[in-house]
Amino acid sequence: MCGIFAYAGTENVVPLLIEGLRSVEYRGYDSAGISVIDEVGEIQTVKRGDHGASLGNLASALDGDSISGVVGIGHTRWATHGGVNHQNSHPHASSNGSVSIAHNGIIENFLELKDELMDSGIVFQSETDSEVLAHLIGNAVTSGRSLREAVIGAASRIKGNTAVVAVSASEPDVAVGLRVGTAGGIVVGKNADAAVMASDVIALLPYTSEVIYLESGEIVEIERGVIRLFDLEGSSISRKPIVTSQNFEAAQKGNHPHFMSKEIAEQPDAIQGAMRGRAAFTKGTLSLPEFSLAQGQIKAIDRVVLTGMGTSLHAGMFGALVIESLARIPATAENSSELRYRNPLIGPNTLVIAVTQSGETADTLAAMEHARNAGAPQAVVLELEGSQATRVADFTLPIRAGQEIGVASTKTMTASMTTLLQLAVVLAETRGVIGGEQVRNIVGSMAELPSLIATTLSLNGQISELADRLSKFEDLLYLGRGAQLPIALEGALKMKELAYIHAEGYPAGEMKHGVNALLGPDIATVVATPRNDLYEKMLSNISEVKARGGEVAAIATEGDDTVERLADHVIRVPDCPELLQPFITLVPMQLLAYRTALALGRDPDKPRNLAKTVTVE
Ligand code: F6R
Repeated sequence: MCGIFAYAGTENVVPLLIEGLRSVEYRGYDSAGISVIDEVGEIQTVKRGDHGASLGNLASALDGDSISGVVGIGHTRWATHGGVNHQNSHPHASSNGSVSIAHNGIIENFLELKDELMDSGIVFQSETDSEVLAHLIGNAVTSGRSLREAVIGAASRIKGNTAVVAVSASEPDVAVGLRVGTAGGIVVGKNADAAVMASDVIALLPYTSEVIYLESGEIVEIERGVIRLFDLEGSSISRKPIVTSQNFEAAQKGNHPHFMSKEIAEQPDAIQGAMRGRAAFTKGTLSLPEFSLAQGQIKAIDRVVLTGMGTSLHAGMFGALVIESLARIPATAENSSELRYRNPLIGPNTLVIAVTQSGETADTLAAMEHARNAGAPQAVVLELEGSQATRVADFTLPIRAGQEIGVASTKTMTASMTTLLQLAVVLAETRGVIGGEQVRNIVGSMAELPSLIATTLSLNGQISELADRLSKFEDLLYLGRGAQLPIALEGALKMKELAYIHAEGYPAGEMKHGVNALLGPDIATVVATPRNDLYEKMLSNISEVKARGGEVAAIATEGDDTVERLADHVIRVPDCPELLQPFITLVPMQLLAYRTALALGRDPDKPRNLAKTVTVE
């Protein structure tokens, strides 16, 4: 999703803007551009918005160009309004070119504002909703307002969630940022020579680790070494910076060819991070200090609703299964974009658990707001502390996987599942459903999880062969039952997003109700079938696919001779307690999608049309 970076300082801003945008490019984008206030106080804008445009193209366009200055804004665009082309790329200029803006979010009343501006004689250069902001701000600056006042004025005219940064030729030392609602954040920081703001904290780390997150309805003005915060009335706000725990080094690829392979490989550490300070392995106990809901309230919970989108929803589905089976509380997982609109029955005895890596996903935030308004106690399981979701939830349960850069989530799923499993145990123990002995057994098996995952990671060789084979298919079916269903759904999602192969995830028992019609030599089936109570049922499903001429790849427990006889390909995962099996089958699913993407020449870190942080609904 769109990324923003702005700098006001002493150095030539052009390479700094490119570098800042590189740190936010993982969010997903299709075009990029910058605006710089040059030495004579004029705004120079360079952007690239053709299909396939990248920061690389933008950097080469700027190479040898004489543009320089010490204040500027940059943007990576993920198209919502208007196609991917040069005109629609950001930054956008006001009609006399004296103001330039870069915007993240959607202006819901843009048509109405556009008509009004066009009636006043303004000619629009793009099809974007964002351009109205450039003109609203530009008009106010022309009529004598400061850039900050002009941005405040524009904020009062627009509807919807917006993050915007702006520069004005009339104030060549300053850049201004505004956040309204939840269209991605703006985080700001400074050192002695500069002040910077961005949609992501990672872009600030070369400058400082002390940062301020803008709340909704706040404006920031940055100038060399200075940050000034205001509310929408124009009153000054004072807020101490927080020290971020994000680490720039950790966000680099290291010796991995892609962020995705690095992040898959980091899963043993990510799981350890999620258990740190929670699972006491020697004592065999578990605690979640961040989940401080009173014991009486925990006992009164009559339902748990988990919510999230995409991979986080799949982690939530796993969470619902373990909460229901361990704590014996009815639990369901629901897509946030559905939950937010269906007026669900949620109340003070419903525990709502949102799962979101970024903490900024628009639909998840809206579902969370709904739960808050309904008075439900609410926890969020997330990576990015300080993000908007932490401000909506009552309890923040960080997964501590370390920042994920690859657009496709991998280590955040395993770390979210680890955190949810621990929450399930804490709920079960507090409600007296399981006792110390059972907790000790679970904690004992969880201690082995990192090394089990490490063993599974070494399957890469077997997986490459299978990936080559699957890359020949145009359709794939992924089947699972019970706790393997979210894993099958995730396997299919990963394959779609990375390899662009049509892949359907299904409950294996549902096949006969329609999907069987598709079976045959043209569709390959991937089944998650470790040895567990549902194993025999899965064997029947494999036989049904085979009977119809389909090719089957099974992810099965090592030493399982029966599956070897039935399936065409077998990925053998280590034997482990049933509770941990979904972790062990998930890793091969991730590797399979990664390897298939490579076999087809796709870039697994930047799947087409996808964004890391989906800040619009
Ligand atoms: C898929 C993927 C997405 C995200 C989804 C939710 O690989 O990464 O499906 O899981 O956009 O994002 P968060 O977890 O940030 O709320």
